Amino acid sequence: VDKDGTRRFTLTMRRGLSEFLPGRPVETWGFNGPLLGPTIRAARGDEIRMTVTNRLDEVSTVHWHGMRLPAKMDGGPHQPIEPGATWNPHWTIDQPAATSWYHPHPHGQTARHVYRGLAGMFIVDDDRGEAGLPSRYGVDDIPLILQDKNLAEDGSPTGDPLKGTFGILGDHMLVNGTHRGFLNVGTERVRFRILNGSNARMYHLTFADGRSFHVVGGDAGLLAAPVEVERVSLTPGERVEVVVAFTAGEQVLLRTVSGSDDIDEGDFDLLKIVAAPRLTASPRLPGRLAGAPAPIVVPSNATVRRFRLNGHDAINGKEMDMSRIDEVVPAGAVEIWEVENTVYPHNFHIHEVAFQVIDVDGQKPAGYASGHKDTVYVPSKSTVRLAVQFGRFTDPGTPYMYHCHILRHEDSGMMGQFVIV
Ligand code: C2O
Ligand code: CU
Ligand code: CU
Repeated sequence: VDKDGTRRFTLTMRRGLSEFLPGRPVETWGFNGPLLGPTIRAARGDEIRMTVTNRLDEVSTVHWHGMRLPAKMDGGPHQPIEPGATWNPHWTIDQPAATSWYHPHPHGQTARHVYRGLAGMFIVDDDRGEAGLPSRYGVDDIPLILQDKNLAEDGSPTGDPLKGTFGILGDHMLVNGTHRGFLNVGTERVRFRILNGSNARMYHLTFADGRSFHVVGGDAGLLAAPVEVERVSLTPGERVEVVVAFTAGEQVLLRTVSGSDDIDEGDFDLLKIVAAPRLTASPRLPGRLAGAPAPIVVPSNATVRRFRLNGHDAINGKEMDMSRIDEVVPAGAVEIWEVENTVYPHNFHIHEVAFQVIDVDGQKPAGYASGHKDTVYVPSKSTVRLAVQFGRFTDPGTPYMYHCHILRHEDSGMMGQFVIV
């Protein structure tokens, strides 16, 4: 933090060595270190200045997924960082408390760059009310980045993230880059900020003993009240914040179980959690979460836009074109975006905005998915309607993206561009 209150962060994209399998170091890419990147933490009202340097041999970008900011700072394909170059985006954080993240977004190469290891978490705090939620980072507030990889004998990630219908669906589950990891906890309740940072896999998260837990937040902010569940589903790019209660001395496994879609095959253990023989008392979970953003109100004359996800490479019959603006949205608008799916399961992410799911094939979303989000699952052959709140940073010349966050689809053209004017 500078004297004038500016918060500065330095990120360097570089190569390094990681051991996914013990004793078998392989080349990976990371921010500041060999794999993934540091958790960035800032608060509402902070002025942010980033120094992002590319020490790779190829052009990349860094996109702040979930951040509300001017299009030039967004880090999408229009803000390339050449090898050896430095990019200095800056903005003021003005959004509710949330778990966001950052990752490369170079045109057509996102899947490769993320699969190599480039991704990190970006936590936004807001004094306006996180009271009662565990919030000591690394103690009772734990980030979990879920990724799957296929590993060769020598421990190196294999497979072409741009091949097949969905790209990579790995059979080695990594949590924060660690295969078969464990976590010691020492408090009665622990908040987990869970990010699906996978290229394609959808997770159905549950504990091996079937215990229930509380969801307190989604992609873009806290829920109005905790929602008790035994399972949450997460597609690539989505985040969820949960609070889990533990009893002294127990061990419990966080798992993902198969679903009925092609992107969620297989039951896998993700993380062993070991509770200390004595646990420190935690605050009681509040009945309502004061820091939750207000519901998005859709005006009766709201613009409705329709998006048809075709096959695995186009939206409304068109592949992504860097020089074509697909939609022009007035600053501050609330619109209804209807996303229709034809064949394969997809999801849909919109840069810069927060949205709420109105319905999925006419059905209200699950309680835990009813808060503010920026990425949503679009099951095969269904229609998802979103109430989308756009920001106020106008720039007719610089687009934001919307796309499927299955990176193989994003890279092969299932992406479009909008500007805010
Ligand atoms: Cu997380 Cu356009 O992406
Ligand atoms: Cu994004
Ligand atoms: Cu897709």
